[in-house]
Amino acid sequence: MSDKKNSILDKMVKKPITLIAPAYPILLVALVGLGLYFIANENAMVLNQIPPRTNDTLGVVKELELLEPKVSSAIDMGLVVTPTPEMITNGKALFQNNCASCHGAEGNGDGATGLTLNPKPRNFHSAEGWKNGRKISEIFKTLQKGVTGSAMSPYDAMPVQDRIAILSFIRATFMTDPPKDSEQELKDLDNTYSLSKGFFQAGQLPIPSASSMVLDAKKDKLQKFSKAISKVSNGSAVSEGREIFINITSNVDKAIATIVNADVSLSSVSSLRALVKSNPGQNGFNSKALYLGDDDYNTVLQFLRESL
Ligand code: HEC
Repeated sequence: MSDKKNSILDKMVKKPITLIAPAYPILLVALVGLGLYFIANENAMVLNQIPPRTNDTLGVVKELELLEPKVSSAIDMGLVVTPTPEMITNGKALFQNNCASCHGAEGNGDGATGLTLNPKPRNFHSAEGWKNGRKISEIFKTLQKGVTGSAMSPYDAMPVQDRIAILSFIRATFMTDPPKDSEQELKDLDNTYSLSKGFFQAGQLPIPSASSMVLDAKKDKLQKFSKAISKVSNGSAVSEGREIFINITSNVDKAIATIVNADVSLSSVSSLRALVKSNPGQNGFNSKALYLGDDDYNTVLQFLRESL
């Protein structure tokens, strides 16, 4: 016994490498593991880049789609109170697309976009602290008007059916015992937004289109304005209409701007008379304009039609 023990000891003393032998397989596995870990995290270690935890959505500006204003089809108030399973399934998909980024996929108010907001997005599971409230009529109001002073914006361009589907999904899925609307509250909801008769759906303009429309309208007016000004100030063209026009204005530029801005129809004396009377002293016309006869007005109109 002691002989054998001694011989193993001897062996180890003579050849210490045998001590390490049993550890070889373990070392091998550890080295391969380290290698794989390195390959998987190469970016972070070698390039010193840490992958972002969430996708950066700040740089992406989503263009609104163009929606025409319209009267939506009538809503069945019975379905608002007792939604069908299809409505709730539909509401779930709409919620994930439109609301989950802030309110969280499970409605806990912990969506990635909402994390830095103040006030924080509502946690739909909790009954505390609601500003408008959890009833159907109250959530509908939130979706119609948004919550002022917060990131909760109005969803008034979203089809009413979709809004009802989303609020049905939220109440059915995230709330235990959601509060019921009284008969009167449902009637008021229906009357306020004309749900069962057909709802007026706000339109939505993509921002670049909206600004170019404004610019186009302005450009058009500016062109008319400068054309008219040059006609009036061109003294060599003798025109009776021009003489009368200058005679009835206290400020030619202002008077032309008044006409161009009002988009007044130049087909009738009465519309021009109404305009002249509309803002006395401020519109560029003087008091003589008020007492001008119809014939002279017609001559002025003729001149303006040629000039604008
Ligand atoms: C940009 C982030 C954001 C998005 C997207 C968003 N919300 Fe909100 N929402 C908020 C915030 C923030 C509040 C909390 C407002 C407060 O308490 O003042 C809120 C509050 C609410 C409330 C509670 C109002 C109350 O009575 O206190 C409801 C209901 C609601 N949101 C529904 C929705 C629905 C439905 C959608 C999707 C159609 C949606 N939200 C999309 C940020 C968002």
